Amino acid sequence: MRIEIPREFDRLGAVRIYGLQKIYELDAGPGPEAPGSDDAIVRSLPADALYGVQREMAIVVPVRSERLKLIEGVLVGIPNSCLVIVVSNSPREPIDRFFLEQESIANFCRFTHKQVVIVHQKDPAIGAAFAAGGYPELLDDTGCVRNGKAEGMMIGTVLARMMGRRYVGFVDSDNYFPGAVNEYVREYAAGFLINGGAHTLVRISWHSKPKIVEQSLYFAKWGRSSRHCNHALNRLLSHHTGFETEIVKTGNAGEHALTLDLAMSIRYATGYAVEPFHYIDLLEQYGGVFPTEHGDMRHLIRICQIESRNPHFHENKGEDHIADMIRGSLSTVYHSRLCPPSLQQEIDAELRQSGLLKEGETLQPVHTYPSLERLDLAKFTAIAQEVVERRVGAPGSPA
Ligand code: GDP
Ligand code: CO
Repeated sequence: MRIEIPREFDRLGAVRIYGLQKIYELDAGPGPEAPGSDDAIVRSLPADALYGVQREMAIVVPVRSERLKLIEGVLVGIPNSCLVIVVSNSPREPIDRFFLEQESIANFCRFTHKQVVIVHQKDPAIGAAFAAGGYPELLDDTGCVRNGKAEGMMIGTVLARMMGRRYVGFVDSDNYFPGAVNEYVREYAAGFLINGGAHTLVRISWHSKPKIVEQSLYFAKWGRSSRHCNHALNRLLSHHTGFETEIVKTGNAGEHALTLDLAMSIRYATGYAVEPFHYIDLLEQYGGVFPTEHGDMRHLIRICQIESRNPHFHENKGEDHIADMIRGSLSTVYHSRLCPPSLQQEIDAELRQSGLLKEGETLQPVHTYPSLERLDLAKFTAIAQEVVERRVGAPGSPA
């Protein structure tokens, strides 16, 4: 892969946010470049080194009632070297969709010898494992994990840790293009290769999102939701650094990956606010504005943003969904301890103007979960191991 090195970064305390990096070649060859031919602007990352990172990576695929063909396409795109963890919250009745997913994935694995673990979000054993590990916040009244994509991602993260991976990446299961999925995973690996494996968050910004406009294809760059979300995050950052910035391009990037150490230490917001909240949490915890338990400001957090080349094309989930996403992501900024009253007013006005907040309504805070650090992994594993052993995938593959 040939990738631009970041030209700039913005910093707040220990958090460094690097500028968007362009991809110049998806494949730049197997080995290192001949000495002297790498210039200062782009860097070639050998395929072997990227595989090395992928072998230590788990890819979590959250699923809720997606079409089987789409899920299969996503699995086709994930490199064989990665461990795949599918966390499904699909209904089990009147039709047992989870059973169908398991069957179709098992069949797929017979041909590919892919390592895939598939778990159900509502599996009582998973709920019991979180309870035993001392993390009941994730559970509902019945002792099962709550609904939501973020909650599914948290299960996937803990399983990745339990299975000894160093990196965890997320790929939605409703992506139409296996080639795009493949590219995201390789870019996660590129981000870790460039930034080292300590505390790194890699986020993908899609190059474009195809739509039909006046009967022809139009490659839109920014969706409505990302525009609002990036703007609010940049305003927040500018307020604290004193310099206006547009560095944040991936405020609500669903496609992202983290080192497991970082994934276990950050807090999560529920539902679709999970992605922008990563920024908020890192800035709150490591931005140096407030004294926190993470006192060590020498411990750099790197946020790396990469622009993918494949167009992004996923299921259209409708207007209401977009409105929810905008409200959720702006709420994380609005209710942050870092948000000044002037920015709160601006966000409020913006939401009212676009009809997303009605007369008499206020922007509700999103629910957040504490860091997974408090989970006792040994106690969690004692129960969850059995669920993972029911996994499908290549026989004899390492757990
Ligand atoms: P968008 O792409 O951000 O607009 O949102 P989607 O509705 O496509 O959801 C993103 C991904 O999360 C998709 O792969 C969904 O199937 C999955 N998803 C949505 N809700 C849940 C849930 O409650 N649990 C799990 N495990 N996955 C979910
Ligand atoms: Co989607």
